[in-house]
Amino acid sequence: MTAAIIDGKKISEEIRSSIKKRVDLLKENGVTPGLAVVLVGDNQASKTYVSMKQKACEKIGMHSVLITLDSGLTQEELLEKVDELNHDSSIHGILVQLPLPSHIDELTVIEAINPSKDVDGFHPINAGRLMTGGDAFVPCTPYGIIEMLKHQDVELSGKHAVIVGRSNIVGKPMGQLLLKEHATVTYCHSRTKDLAYHTRQADILIAAVGVIKLITADHIKEGVVIIDVGMNRDENGKLCGDVDFEDCLQKAAAITPVPGGVGPMTITMLLANTVQSAERFLS
Ligand code: GUN
Repeated sequence: MTAAIIDGKKISEEIRSSIKKRVDLLKENGVTPGLAVVLVGDNQASKTYVSMKQKACEKIGMHSVLITLDSGLTQEELLEKVDELNHDSSIHGILVQLPLPSHIDELTVIEAINPSKDVDGFHPINAGRLMTGGDAFVPCTPYGIIEMLKHQDVELSGKHAVIVGRSNIVGKPMGQLLLKEHATVTYCHSRTKDLAYHTRQADILIAAVGVIKLITADHIKEGVVIIDVGMNRDENGKLCGDVDFEDCLQKAAAITPVPGGVGPMTITMLLANTVQSAERFLS
């Protein structure tokens, strides 16, 4: 078996063209969806991600504002900025790029964002609603993964999904979304004993730990669908996932590449969440 390569770029383009139609309709009705991205400090990776998010907004005609703040600012100053954006009627989505400098408490900042503008879906209100079945903003990476699996016609109901990683951004919400799709979910993490035993049970394997090429052919069963969330750099600076792609290619039924897999989907779902937020102004 040679795995089908799940083309996140192509799926993203399809979804973005339908989002663009929603943006056009909003604009015809006098509402331009607006996203504010707050970047604190000069973390190079964060700068790159933020610039990709901005470009994606502009390309589909959305309003985007980048607020860059010095890493020495106080938590109070950052909270004031967030509050200003909460009250800015041209802004429908607020994203504070993580990580934040160590003197700032991330959860305090996330909790300061108005949950109805929390297009990252990180606010405890949105996390809680996702868990209890309410109307929530869904974190963009797991949201994008579900859309990818659906586009690829991967059956989820009754399937065993194994998630490696338990972050608030990816692992935990991923499990909630898969449960909603009637999958059986197992979480693995850094303290899991005999990781390969668990991952070999997976019909769908989500790798989201940030450990380069952790998942090899020995970790998987024949016919698994693999989603690689990893964004690691190897010794030559090349972008690599958490999965040894070449090693798993002959055994998996389908696999996402890095780059060109999950990455573009995350940005696409950020656009979708911001447009969803702006659409409330039409009803
Ligand atoms: N840092 C890495 N990924 C993300 C993300 O999806 N949202 C925010 N706000 N920060 C991040």
